[in-house]
Amino acid sequence: MNITEMRDVYRDKLGISIDECDFIFKILLKELCDIDPIKIALDPCFILSSDLINTLLKSLNMIIDNYPIDYLINKKNFYGKDFYVDENVLIPRPETEELVDWLINDNIDVNHQKNVIDLCSGSGCIGISIDINNKYLNVTLSDFSTNVLKICEINKKKLNSNVKIIQFDLNLTSTLNKKFDIIVSNPPYLSLDELNHIGKNVKYEPEIALFAPKDNPLYFYEKILKFASTNLSKNGIIYLEINPNFILEFNQLLSNYTINHINFRDDFRGKKRLVKITF
Ligand SMILES: C[S@@+](CC[C@H](N)C(=O)[O-])C[C@H]1O[C@@H](n2cnc3c(N)ncnc32)[C@H](O)[C@@H]1O
Repeated sequence: MNITEMRDVYRDKLGISIDECDFIFKILLKELCDIDPIKIALDPCFILSSDLINTLLKSLNMIIDNYPIDYLINKKNFYGKDFYVDENVLIPRPETEELVDWLINDNIDVNHQKNVIDLCSGSGCIGISIDINNKYLNVTLSDFSTNVLKICEINKKKLNSNVKIIQFDLNLTSTLNKKFDIIVSNPPYLSLDELNHIGKNVKYEPEIALFAPKDNPLYFYEKILKFASTNLSKNGIIYLEINPNFILEFNQLLSNYTINHINFRDDFRGKKRLVKITF
C-alpha cells in the first residue's frame, strides 16, 4: 500500500471532514512513522513498509474507538511546550493554561523567591510551566500516584525544569513540614452524574484523575483548604480550577474560612472555572 492509498483509507473510515482526516493522518505519519507529511505531495506513490501499515491501521482503529491521539503519540502541547502523556495521566486541557497564565502574570514583577506547590500535579503541566516561565517561583509538584510521579520526572527532564517532585496523598492527615506562598491545583472535580455529558474519549483517561468521590464533588477542595490551613503562608494565595456546575456549593465551602478576597474568572468557553483565593 502506498502513502496516498493509506491517507484515503483514513478519509474513508474516520467519518469526519477531509481536512480533519488529513490533519490527523499527517500527525501520525510524523510522530509514529517518522515520515515528513510533505512526502504525500512530493512522493504520492511512496510504498509503506508492512510495519508502518500495521501501525497506521491499528492507530486508525483506536481513533475510531475514540482513543485520544495525544496518548497515541505520547505528546500534548501545553502552554507552548510538548509534555509527555500516557494513560497514567490526564491529558492537559486548554482551560488549565489560563490558570497557569493567571498565576505566572500575577507574579511577574515580584523580586523575591516564592514557594509554590502544585497539588494533584498529574503530568506536571501546571507546575512545570510555572517553573520554566517565572524565575521567582520555586515549584514543588505533588501527586499520590507513583506512576503519575514517574511521568512528572519524565517531563521535568524533557523540559529542563527545576521542580521538586514529592509523593503526597491529600487523603492522609499528615502534612508537609514546609510553608508555601502559593498553592495551585486542578484536582479531580467531575461528579459521576456528569459522565454521560462529557466527551467519549475521557473513557481512556484515569478515573482517579477525573472524578471526585460520588457523594461529594467538593471533596478535593475541602482537602486542599485543610492543607492550606497548615501549609499556606500568612497572606498566601490559592489558585484553583473548579467545576463550573458547583459554584454555589463551592462558595458555601469558602464561607467557612476567613478569606480576604475571592476572584472568579471565566474560561475561554465562558464558564466560571478558575478561582483565586487570597488570604
Ligand atoms: C484532574 S488530574 C490533574 C492533573 C494536572 N494537574 C492537570 O491539570 O492536567 C488530578 C490528579 O489528582 C491526582 N489525585 C487523585 N487523588 C489524589 C489524592 N488523594 N492525593 C493526591 N493526588 C490525587 C490524580 O492522580 C491526578 O493526577
